[in-house]
Amino acid sequence: MTDLYAVVGNPISHSKSPRIHALFAANTRQDMEYTAIQAPVNAFADTVADFFDAGGQGLNVTVPFKQEAWALCQWRSERAQRSGAVNTLWQDEQGRLCGDNTDGAGLVRDLTLNHPISLTGKNLLLLGAGGAARGVLQPLLAQAPATLVIANRTLQKAQDLVDLFPETTGVRACHFRDLSEPFDLIINATSASLAGDLPPLPNGIITPQTFAYDMMYGPHQTPFNQWAQGCGAHQCIDGLGMLVEQAAEAFFLWRKIRPDTASVLALLRDFR
Ligand code: ATR
Repeated sequence: MTDLYAVVGNPISHSKSPRIHALFAANTRQDMEYTAIQAPVNAFADTVADFFDAGGQGLNVTVPFKQEAWALCQWRSERAQRSGAVNTLWQDEQGRLCGDNTDGAGLVRDLTLNHPISLTGKNLLLLGAGGAARGVLQPLLAQAPATLVIANRTLQKAQDLVDLFPETTGVRACHFRDLSEPFDLIINATSASLAGDLPPLPNGIITPQTFAYDMMYGPHQTPFNQWAQGCGAHQCIDGLGMLVEQAAEAFFLWRKIRPDTASVLALLRDFR
């Protein structure tokens, strides 16, 4: 019987996940179907329950439901626990709803395997302190960077993220205006690009060795990557690779098979 999977969000029609998972399934010869479900904003829990009651095997969760998915879970992975958000759901043998967050692993795999950029011992700057930033913190810190500075418009929110990792040295919070020293890698996890905006950043944080990574992607270069390129960054990368890698990580959790991501990423870039 064909196994059923889906991504749940609102809105959802723009989602590339059905296409990505269909390619993974074809490449690994898995008998599965992956659809997109738009849940009413006040009926996420019912949508999840209906899906699993009908025999569904696994769900991805996207905006605005990742925090609600976290709260619904009866079991969470360690990385999901700290991230406060869940993007991958399944049921275990006892019927418990289980959750993981594959966003951070997707980011780290894209950086370290696809580009490849080593993060160990490097000075990293994370811009933003919302859900997207929180979701990637633990996997980034697991790479043992020398420092991880979290800069945010609202300082307290960056400090709250730092406080989630009391055992880790080298993590600190600041305002954008306090930034001055250069970084090896700057990751934009703010939602500013969505509005065509850019956090107020000083040019001095970029050198010809600096990598810039925007977790957003689109048909055109993001405002952050445009700015970084103008400052002479070594390379500017968008979040499409992270999208494909987080999907592969979810696929691996469900199917125990790791799909090839390079061919899928190349196809998505061609058809943008
Ligand atoms: P997401 O789930 O995408 O992270 P979020 O939780 O609403 O969304 O967080 C948005 C992040 O982008 C926050 O860090 C926000 O800064 P504040 O915490 O100060 O609100 C940041 N952000 C949004 N628009 C921004 C802008 N124009 N300039 C700088 N930061 C911005």
